[in-house]
Amino acid sequence: MNTPKRYTITAALPYTNGPIHIGHLAGVYVPADIYARYLRLTGNDVAFICGSDEHGVPITIRAKKEGVSPQDIVDKYHKIIKQSFIDFGITFDNYSRTTAKIHHETASEFFTTLYDKGEFIEEVTEQLYDAEAKQFLADRFVIGTCPKCGNEESYGDQCEVCGTSHNATDLINPKSAITGATPTLKKTKHWFLPLDKHEAFLKEWILEGHKKDWKSNVYGQCKSWIDDGLRPRAVTRDLDWGIPVPLDDAEGKVLYVWFDAPIGYISATKEWAKRVGKDWKLYWKDKDTKLVHFIGKDNIVFHCIIFPAMLKAEGSYILPDNVPANEFLNLADSKFSTSKNWAVWLPDYLQDFPNQQDVLRYTLTANAPETKDNNFTWKDFQARNNNELVAIFGNFINRVVVLTHKYYNGIVPIPNDFTSTDEETLAKLKAYPTIISSSIERYRFREALGELMNLARLGNKYLADEEPWKAIKTDEVRVQTIMYVALQISSALAILSEPFLPFTSHKLKKILNVSSSAPDSYRDENNWEDVSNKETLLSAGHQIAKAELLFSKIEDKEIQVQLDKLEATKKVNEADNKVTEPQKDTITFEDFKKLDIRVGTILDAKKIPKTKKLLVLKVDTGIDVRIIVSGIAESFTADEVIGKRVTVLVNLAPRTLRGIESEGMILMTETPEGKLVFVNPDDNANVVNGLQIS
Ligand code: MF3
Ligand code: ZN
Repeated sequence: MNTPKRYTITAALPYTNGPIHIGHLAGVYVPADIYARYLRLTGNDVAFICGSDEHGVPITIRAKKEGVSPQDIVDKYHKIIKQSFIDFGITFDNYSRTTAKIHHETASEFFTTLYDKGEFIEEVTEQLYDAEAKQFLADRFVIGTCPKCGNEESYGDQCEVCGTSHNATDLINPKSAITGATPTLKKTKHWFLPLDKHEAFLKEWILEGHKKDWKSNVYGQCKSWIDDGLRPRAVTRDLDWGIPVPLDDAEGKVLYVWFDAPIGYISATKEWAKRVGKDWKLYWKDKDTKLVHFIGKDNIVFHCIIFPAMLKAEGSYILPDNVPANEFLNLADSKFSTSKNWAVWLPDYLQDFPNQQDVLRYTLTANAPETKDNNFTWKDFQARNNNELVAIFGNFINRVVVLTHKYYNGIVPIPNDFTSTDEETLAKLKAYPTIISSSIERYRFREALGELMNLARLGNKYLADEEPWKAIKTDEVRVQTIMYVALQISSALAILSEPFLPFTSHKLKKILNVSSSAPDSYRDENNWEDVSNKETLLSAGHQIAKAELLFSKIEDKEIQVQLDKLEATKKVNEADNKVTEPQKDTITFEDFKKLDIRVGTILDAKKIPKTKKLLVLKVDTGIDVRIIVSGIAESFTADEVIGKRVTVLVNLAPRTLRGIESEGMILMTETPEGKLVFVNPDDNANVVNGLQIS
């Protein structure tokens, strides 16, 4: 294992425009916390830093929506988010906020340093302006078509579909998100960071320096931006919410949120260092410190290109050693959405599953979107709990603890001679710290968790093979050794599970009576390496505490409650999205009289192969029997419509569809709920949706 080092670990500062949901936890905070806990357990010096991102347009938009001030919004959500992190055991050394004084000072100073060094371009350019709202439109205040991928709902600064970061004036067809108006152009002065000037450095540092150790999704995105050519980016905005630009001629201008927010990592470190009496500079300026940013994939450009360019331009900072960005987690196959309430909010989860934080941490890690987007479903959540946590981990511990009490009154027995199975089992056990470390150090947290579960499986298999409950009748001496070995495995699980399942680890340490009193006991009497190095983890004669269930089964009905919640959200969203077509232009009675409408009967119906919608119908119109092609196959099967009496427009000019000539049209209409129905001569008392049939 490595010699101890100093680490600065950051997790993306969440926008305080809403609570956080399980997608945030899966993508950023759980992996970052596993990493930080692991590093502490292995004796490293760690600053794990986060805070609320309280500037920027999302906050202003939320404030407008709720009819309160931006300060009210950030105060409200900062509190909620901070509590969620505590509740889920995310062990930040400091959780700060970007409205803090220390942050305003640090960010202003950073800007001034770059300004004084001549690192900005000052330029008057034309920017998008909403004349109605009397406001410049930057970032999320403007929506338009992404010049790179064609997404029609790209924001001014970033397209969420392809991840490209651009200038608002690059958008095709821009529209104001405030009034919907097409913006005009208006002149305004701003300060630009010339990324092009840093291109050579970025190329060498990322494309040559980090080809091997950065995740391929991260490296690939960086390469594509660099290959596209880097351009100057404005780092100031005409807005009234943010950190004022610290220059004399910058009235009404603030720092761009993506300029100030990453500096928030630095300010939060300063705040922490001051509190605990450390030197913050060691964590940001000492080249032996390893800086690691945990983020979601939409943040890659800011952490790999723009922030490093800022740090480089400033000159006295270290650069990130790695940026292990994750892809996205979806919820039941759809993207998480704060505005559509398509999310599992952390406070709601805790209310429905009290004290079950580790079940969520487990599921999110086992399913982490490390290399591709992934999906969260409640069924999978239930299965992982019941089939893995309860059946494997929980079951093993429970058997060991119960049997230890039954045979030895809870006292670890003295082992006798080890068999070769015992030796092998103990050897395997000693290998786990290295195996799990190797996965964690390569940011492969799901693989690491899989290995932890393999250790629990090893324990289960050992008990199943050795059958102490049978041996106790014939060979009590042997059982002492079996239980001793099983207790060593239990103890190893308590230590090695701590980064992943901290609540469980703590509970297990209590059961094994090895816990220190601190609720978050990273430093126990045994640490990570002791599992490999110590002769014994739980020595003979040690008294363990009473059995307690580590996990409990989640029933179908609990899952159904969650499924119903999602279904209800879906319904609300569908109702919100339903657009009722406006009435068409009026027609004269003369126009209407031209329609020859008859009642007919469908004699036969067949689906046209390789089409989604088309049925070919044989219809008796009363005049003749003819072929009509009808686009109703998504709503009705061929069998369903045979024999049905229908209303037919018989004098529609014939048309050929998929090589079949269609002579007429079956009249259909849509209910207000959007369901396709026949204009039926029998069921509807001759009036359907206002269409009178004579
Ligand atoms: N608030 C941003 C988001 O949620 C992340 C900011 S990360 C920082 O996407 F580096 F700017 F702090
Ligand atoms: Zn795009």
